[in-house]
Amino acid sequence: MKIIHSIGDNIINLETVDSTNNYLKELLKVETPQEGTVIITQEQTAGRGQVGNCWESNKGENVTLSFVIYPTFIDARNQFMISKVISLGIVDFLKTFITDVKIKWPNDIYVNEKKIAGVLIENTLIGNSISSSIAGIGLNINQKTFSPALPNPTSLSLETGDTYQLEELYETLFSKLNYWYNKLKTSKVDDIDIEYLFLLYRYQKLHQYKVGDEVFTAKIIDIDQFGRLCLLNEKKELLQFAFKEVVFL
Ligand code: BTN
Repeated sequence: MKIIHSIGDNIINLETVDSTNNYLKELLKVETPQEGTVIITQEQTAGRGQVGNCWESNKGENVTLSFVIYPTFIDARNQFMISKVISLGIVDFLKTFITDVKIKWPNDIYVNEKKIAGVLIENTLIGNSISSSIAGIGLNINQKTFSPALPNPTSLSLETGDTYQLEELYETLFSKLNYWYNKLKTSKVDDIDIEYLFLLYRYQKLHQYKVGDEVFTAKIIDIDQFGRLCLLNEKKELLQFAFKEVVFL
């Protein structure tokens, strides 16, 4: 009989680590932790963000965790689905406390035009399939001041005025992540796509974007199968961009 494990069934707590993503990456070299194994830490000394950025988080104030899943059932071409389900899980979690939570493509979580969470997904591909996926979540909870170098950070505490016990949040977060990951496991792709677009920051609204030196007005009309941003400009031309090819102004 195959035992099915969920995200959060097995938790490894670390006082301090360079990066929870790095820790899982190293662990995967020597063993195969059960699916959904989570590494939670109080402090990262070299937390990583997307495209080589750092992820800063005050010790003990925020959620900084990574978990491993084995989505071998999806094609490598569809790997953006993993991003979608993780973003949706985080949004559902935040919606238990606040409204107006959005996903800024590809997977930043925004509240009132400010970033409250970021996700770093690192997939290992074998041929056309995904053998493992490490998903790191940085979710600002109690931190109230941030480095001025960050453009627009916020936290749950800044949004609600409350202070939270981190240990009391994990169960809800994991249940929301499992809900959406199960949708992927059971091929409920339409449910995922519809909800992702529904929660997408700036979806169907005219805004300014920048590509190279060119600034133009366009609206987001879709995210394609490969996770590219699909914009319709004022000349009704369809433009598609991979991450970092376009800047939101
Ligand atoms: C981003 O928005 O740039 C992604 C940030 C991801 C940060 C999390 S914190 C836990 C995990 N470990 C890391 O080193 N990074 C991710």
